[in-house]
Amino acid sequence: MNILVIGSGGREHALVWKLAQSPHALRMWCAPGNAGIAGERLAANGSAVECLPLGAENLPGLLAFAQSQAIDLTVVGPDNPLALGIVDQFQAAGLRIWGVNQNAAQFESSKVFSQKFMEKYGIPTAAAGTFADPAAAKRFAASLDGRCVVKADGLALGKGVLMCTNLAEAERAVDEIMVGKAFGAAGAQTVIQEYLEGMEVSLHALCDGHTAKLFPTSQDHKRALDGDHGLNTGGMGTYSPTPFLSDAELASVSQKILEPFMHGCRAEGIDYRGILYPGVMLTKTGPKVLEFNARFGDPETQVYLTRLENDLVELLDASVSGTLDKVKLTWNPRAAVCVVMASGGYPGNYPKGQAISGLAAANSLPEIKVFHAGTALKNGQIVTNGGRVLGVTAVGADLKTAQIAAYTAVGKIHFEGAHFRRDIAAKALNPA
Ligand code: AMP
Ligand code: GLY
Repeated sequence: MNILVIGSGGREHALVWKLAQSPHALRMWCAPGNAGIAGERLAANGSAVECLPLGAENLPGLLAFAQSQAIDLTVVGPDNPLALGIVDQFQAAGLRIWGVNQNAAQFESSKVFSQKFMEKYGIPTAAAGTFADPAAAKRFAASLDGRCVVKADGLALGKGVLMCTNLAEAERAVDEIMVGKAFGAAGAQTVIQEYLEGMEVSLHALCDGHTAKLFPTSQDHKRALDGDHGLNTGGMGTYSPTPFLSDAELASVSQKILEPFMHGCRAEGIDYRGILYPGVMLTKTGPKVLEFNARFGDPETQVYLTRLENDLVELLDASVSGTLDKVKLTWNPRAAVCVVMASGGYPGNYPKGQAISGLAAANSLPEIKVFHAGTALKNGQIVTNGGRVLGVTAVGADLKTAQIAAYTAVGKIHFEGAHFRRDIAAKALNPA
């Protein structure tokens, strides 16, 4: 098959790496890709993955390329092209593409849509209200004594979520989002949720419009600094599985979240084919959904795909075809840990173009895969080219072994200003 992967981060490197192992993959492109993706080769014939100078949101360019190369399967990584309707456009042109359509992408592109859906179909979530009027939003925040989370409705590069502990903060958050338009049109409406306490976990389920197949659990580390301090980031590291949900609890979550989700989609005429990634808080009164994402998590993908034993081309194909009921997901029982190495200053401003050394030494360690996120090739040298630069991923007999292996590999890699958390997976290993 000719395969095109869209995106350029660590998630897309993990997707390309796993797809490249499939005997079905005979030629592969990635748009736009990164330096690590350009270094991958296909297991079937040794040919190199080719990176294309086409941005993930250049829908006309991507469509023209897919048509000209007779792409058999396009795989979409990031949320923006999904929200722009890339899947609908490719399908209208008769092309096979994996990812959610524009209607289904609303679960991520509109928090108001998601919150109303959860309430309508009885999916456990935070007590919440949805607002188009700032005064009404403030009244609701006051009813929660200001302990709430104010969320811009639309996509805001992961920044449109403001956590508030008192009414003054909550009122400021409403003004910032709805009046000051800090996130532009994304803030025309807001969702205000009660502030939930608990352990946060990531769930993923592969869906085909009828069937949802739940993955094992994973946990991201969203804050920039150790101990969950500092600013929110795209994710500084993950591990899988987590000890916080037993298999029985996971099955019950599946029943309380996935079943009403799929039922609601059918009732609303939403054909959900792709990944559903609910962010879930494990509260004293049970698991509650904070948000839905309609794509693979980054860096969750790095730990999932290093554990997945199925052929990913066949899995994604079954998701497109609606035949997931015939597939059994199989997971390596070992644990995986991914430590993100970021540019100095991230998630604020950071320099680009810093030379990266030690990649070969790290990758030659057993059970290590260094996924690239923000990297580029400049005059033959791999350099930093983004906030999150690398996802150093290890698989081990247990979490501790995987954690030690990941940090040993991190220790081999250097670039000016590199920063990473030293406590990825620590919550699982030393519960408070
Ligand atoms: P979201 O993009 O909606 O997942 O929010 C980003 C992050 O904010 C989540 O990963 C949580 O860490 C935090 N968060 C969101 N909603 C809540 C809530 N209702 N209570 C506590 N924390 C939350
Ligand atoms: N891991 C966070 C995200 O992908 O949204």
